[in-house]
Amino acid sequence: MTPSERDHEIGRRRTFAIISHPDAGKTTLTEKLLLYGGAIQLAGSVRARRDQPSTASDWMELEKERGISVSSTLLQFEYGGCVINLLDTPGHKDFSEDTYRVLTAVDSVIMVIDAAKGIEERTRKLFEICRLRGIPIFTLMNKMDRPSQDPLTLLDELEKVLGIGAFPVTWPVGNGETFRGVYDRLERRLHLYERSARGRHRAPERVSGIHDEAFKTLLSPKDHADWVEEIEMLAGAGESFEPADIQTGLLTPVFFGSGITNFGVQLLLDYFIRHGAPPQPRISTDGRSIDPASPVFSGFVFKVQANMNPRHRDRLTFVRICSGTFEKDMVVPDPDTGKPVRLSYPQKLFGQDRESVEIAYPGDIVGLVTHKAFRIGATLTTDPEIRYDEIPRFSPEAFATIRNIGTEKQKQFREGLDQLLDEGVIQAFKTPESGLTSSLLGAVGQLQFDVVLHRLRNEYGADPRIDPAPYTLVRWFDAGVRRDQYEEAYLGIGVKLAEDLQGYLVLLFPTAWALDYFLEKNPGTRLHTVSPQAKALPASVI
Ligand code: G4P
Repeated sequence: MTPSERDHEIGRRRTFAIISHPDAGKTTLTEKLLLYGGAIQLAGSVRARRDQPSTASDWMELEKERGISVSSTLLQFEYGGCVINLLDTPGHKDFSEDTYRVLTAVDSVIMVIDAAKGIEERTRKLFEICRLRGIPIFTLMNKMDRPSQDPLTLLDELEKVLGIGAFPVTWPVGNGETFRGVYDRLERRLHLYERSARGRHRAPERVSGIHDEAFKTLLSPKDHADWVEEIEMLAGAGESFEPADIQTGLLTPVFFGSGITNFGVQLLLDYFIRHGAPPQPRISTDGRSIDPASPVFSGFVFKVQANMNPRHRDRLTFVRICSGTFEKDMVVPDPDTGKPVRLSYPQKLFGQDRESVEIAYPGDIVGLVTHKAFRIGATLTTDPEIRYDEIPRFSPEAFATIRNIGTEKQKQFREGLDQLLDEGVIQAFKTPESGLTSSLLGAVGQLQFDVVLHRLRNEYGADPRIDPAPYTLVRWFDAGVRRDQYEEAYLGIGVKLAEDLQGYLVLLFPTAWALDYFLEKNPGTRLHTVSPQAKALPASVI
């Protein structure tokens, strides 16, 4: 392959995720993007197939029981000359760590907002994470088929609450019951749609201009006059659509629509293909900017998951390719030991369906079937000098001890728990009391414990039990601080010295008050909310 052919392949990659507050319509939009992208023929299958063993987007039993999306899925398909890699992110806040990891692997996002509710809490946090990376954010004001807030108010909120410039690419015609379609302000074309049952098929669409006579009759004379005035007012505001501002995350292009009826979905997809970012350079920890077009292969692990599919009980390591070309069976140094490892059995994924991959390009995600457990955040590269930042862990706020009831399934329990720790489903801390039979776990949210129990039972046949532990906070010491330096010290009531799985020393506190007390009594000690090798995240995104 020539360099220009490779450049072409890189330039047509669009790797993105959809972010939203739960219930804003992420799952529905995912499905409609697949429908318009030609990847599925009939919508309704993703949600309806929840009751079957195989689903395109949600696959774990627990997800079905709770109706939530726990583990992220990858959907890869071609549309409009582009290769689209859509990464699913769990919506629930208890899985924010998993979502954060996925967002390190994308080049753009689509932010879905319920147009009746405006910006909600999770949207704001996820937006902050994306802003930290300066990636393009496309906004969909969704559910316009229901009574919604005034479009100008919604735009104003984007600018005031999120502090991002907003450019309405489309403008709604009608609201709620009277929502008929959208006006494409850049192409000056009116798209009027008809509703079909739950939008299972593409919505029949009529494209015309603003002076279309039939359009006038769709709205009351007053509504029509108001609408025309609004469009003129927007045009008169003189804002221009600057693709460069979108690419750097300064401006969000805004689309109005309704995932359920499909209104406006195609316009969003088409603009996204055109203006969403292709793979961008990434910074190695030595400060070098690694261009995707560089011939040297590099990528990083952002997710590990075993037993995703009962038909394939194996471990998948998800790698985001950042530069060079990935080839099946290529050999790279092990990021931990430096010994050569062969990257065999690479898979391309579409929900649960897998296909073997021979070659993949920057922007692509490959799922490696590995015996070795690569760490989340590990860099895989043929140039050992390249290293991408470790993916930080969130500081746990809930703690519990886990053990297996009885001695029979001890081996399964240990094997399962080790696997879940490798996947980063949960964190563990070593205390003098913990050992082979019990472990102290730390979670960002309670649901993570439920996932651990559920998976240990169902995937490993273990019989686990969880009991709450009396801590609410963990803090890391500086790297290099040893246990014996603090073993004799008085730490405070209920405060415990422990180590994380990498061997870094931590303190577990029962209350914030105990933490303050410790700091007061040990003024020279520096404590951190993340482990020494990880970068701290601003509190606003956690
Ligand atoms: P999420 O992944 O962000 O959590 O949202 P999801 O797509 O699951 O949608 C949440 C609810 O909102 C669903 O209703 C869905 O049908 C509805 N919804 C999604 N997009 C639209 C839209 O554009 N307009 C309207 N009116 N509703 C929308 P549900 O009652 O929870 O489920 P269901 O019985 O409809 O399947």
